[in-house]
Amino acid sequence: MANYIAEPFKIKAMEPLRVTTPEYRRERIEAAGYNPFSLRAEDVYIDLQTDSGTGALSDRQWASLLIGDESYSGGRSYYKLLDTARALFGEDYYIQPVHQGRAAEKVLFPALIEPGQHVVSNTLFDTTRGHVGLAGGVPVDLVTEAGRHPAVPADFKGDIDIPALKEFIAAKGADSIAAVMITITNNSLGGQPVAIANMREARRVADRHGLPLLLDAARFAENAYFVKRREPEFADASISEIVQETFALADAFTISAKKDGLVNIGGLLGVRDHPALTAAVKSSVVAMEGFLTYGGLAGRDLEALAVGLTEAVDEDLLRYRIGQVQYLGARLEEAGIVHQTPVGGHGVFVDAAAFLPHLAWHEFPGHALAIELYVEAGIRAADIGSLLLDPDPVTGEAQRAVAEFTRLAIPRRVYTQAHLDVVADALIAIKDRAADVPGYEIVEQAKVLRHFTARLRPITR
Ligand code: F0G
Repeated sequence: MANYIAEPFKIKAMEPLRVTTPEYRRERIEAAGYNPFSLRAEDVYIDLQTDSGTGALSDRQWASLLIGDESYSGGRSYYKLLDTARALFGEDYYIQPVHQGRAAEKVLFPALIEPGQHVVSNTLFDTTRGHVGLAGGVPVDLVTEAGRHPAVPADFKGDIDIPALKEFIAAKGADSIAAVMITITNNSLGGQPVAIANMREARRVADRHGLPLLLDAARFAENAYFVKRREPEFADASISEIVQETFALADAFTISAKKDGLVNIGGLLGVRDHPALTAAVKSSVVAMEGFLTYGGLAGRDLEALAVGLTEAVDEDLLRYRIGQVQYLGARLEEAGIVHQTPVGGHGVFVDAAAFLPHLAWHEFPGHALAIELYVEAGIRAADIGSLLLDPDPVTGEAQRAVAEFTRLAIPRRVYTQAHLDVVADALIAIKDRAADVPGYEIVEQAKVLRHFTARLRPITR
């Protein structure tokens, strides 16, 4: 029996949800060009599209909004955020608030990447990949063998493949590489954690070749929780000690604070011991995000993020949160539904290629299952598979993802056990008619980050 860890909080404000019929939803998804991003959120019952910016604030965060300092420069909330972030990530970081994760990428990459250089990663998330490309760089993902097999459990599937990293540097030369970037947790692979041991190895390799090591640390607290549970060296360490250990290994980081930062909007960029890069970051932020002490955010956003960072490392909250993901994973496992195993930190990634074996990768099984979930029960999920990958910018060729997932991302502190049961029951119902689920083809797409706005249609055979 799946085990549910009860909420370490009670609910103070509720938001009503609308229940609709399958006929209504069929009509809505067709009108949306079979793209869940184009649905109106009020037509969604349980929204598992993302865990980004969709969490509930705590009462302390709501209270903090009122004391946000809205001064244009030098605001109190900025200094509060700075003190909290430095205490958590390291006192020697220059820390810059920005409006969200991709803003940090937009500011950092042009200052770091020379056209044609590679950014080598465990797996870059889609916006990160997009911004590497926009800065003239070439994204490279080096996934370990363990990461490639959803049904086979392993502790740190998110790791970067160290032998492949060494080979890549030997083959291409360090000059052709702008940076090594590690995504914690590894979102595209299922929110899978990266071991500190793996990051230490990556650091050693990077040092040997004079390369900077970057962290894309949107889910730094979830990663630390897994490290505590799975890496014996850290069994007795606190979450914040593990976070410190992690960030001490990097030269720079980007954070979308909409995840573990527990806010609805916000991001951070950190740079260590690199005056030239820090100067480039500052001048770009002033031009593109806003003055250094607000970085495109309101003072109240800075204040809520300062509180969010403190709550993010609360081990009880992490145990409950990851427990929710594990509960949904266990319910699916009982029903024989294959997913990335063990589940990661922020959601269950259903192996849509295994669920819909009659569909080819270029018929987007991850997307097809997401559409079916919407029609079945009003659940919004997202493809993390080949639809997410834009065609190769040089050759224009379609790219195949390592896996075809339907991601059920769980917002923080939002849904209950009963909601998760609705999700599991819907998938179980779809399993019985899986052979009838159609694949999809793209009718219209943008050049970069196509999945957000593409229009598709079902393939009729
Ligand atoms: N890096 C990672 C690992 C992410 O998961 C995201 C966002 C970003 C960077 C970009 O941050 O959205 O604040 O600009 N991921 C969201 C998701 C959108 O649904 O996984 P952002």
